[in-house]
Amino acid sequence: MIFTMPTDEHIRVRRLSPTDSVVELTGLLHRAYAKQTAMGLHALASHQAPEVTRKRISKGECFVAVMPAEAARAAGLDVPADAAPDSDRIVGTIMFQEPSWGGAPESGPRWFHRPDVANFSMFAVEPRLQGRGVGVLLLDHVEKRARELGMRELALSTAEPDTKLVQFYRNRGFRDVERHDWGVTNYLSLIMSKSLVGDA
Ligand SMILES: CC(C)(COP(=O)(O)OP(=O)(O)OC[C@H]1O[C@@H](n2cnc3c(N)ncnc32)[C@H](O)[C@@H]1OP(=O)(O)O)[C@@H](O)C(=O)NCCC(=O)NCCS
Repeated sequence: MIFTMPTDEHIRVRRLSPTDSVVELTGLLHRAYAKQTAMGLHALASHQAPEVTRKRISKGECFVAVMPAEAARAAGLDVPADAAPDSDRIVGTIMFQEPSWGGAPESGPRWFHRPDVANFSMFAVEPRLQGRGVGVLLLDHVEKRARELGMRELALSTAEPDTKLVQFYRNRGFRDVERHDWGVTNYLSLIMSKSLVGDA
């Protein structure tokens, strides 16, 4: 079987809509985070139930990278047989949150409590399409959103032992801020942040 990789014009980023399937979105998270599971890292997104995905996306703005079902099928992705050729197949996601810390005052990373720091999480790209720029497209999108809202910083929490991923963020202007134990993972998380002040 010959697969055709999608080109830039196939992929666009939009808000998750109420008609998108949270079950499918959760499946995408599981497939993407399996990479970390293979490293022995148990990220919440690697095994969370759809209800947990639903609860997490209710706390902010969830964006998805989508491509037409026909192009997704040509790229070797699973697409339901009855999907219309131009219907959207979700191939990536990122969850953007404004700085409205909803947890207990002493919980969570201190950096996330700041009123000028937005953050993102549940960042994932369909494994077959990784390394082709879809992740950076999503990252650019939330950075633009944070700038629109006048945020001074865009932050994230990542598994510190995943050194290649940490480097991926460093290459894109994120610096180390603090370490945090979320209590639901088996590793220490590194909180990284990018200044949005100055360069536009
Ligand atoms: C992290 C992730 C979302 C990035 O998406 P992606 O579509 O693969 O990223 P891109 O193709 O836009 O990445 C651009 C570059 O980073 C590199 N890169 C991507 N993921 C990388 C990783 N995990 N480690 C090191 N480098 C990586 C790509 O090779 C590419 O290199 P280039 O700029 O030299 O061409 C994706 O790899 C993923 O789903 N990973 C598993 C889930 C995960 O770890 N999420 C983040 C939790 S904090």
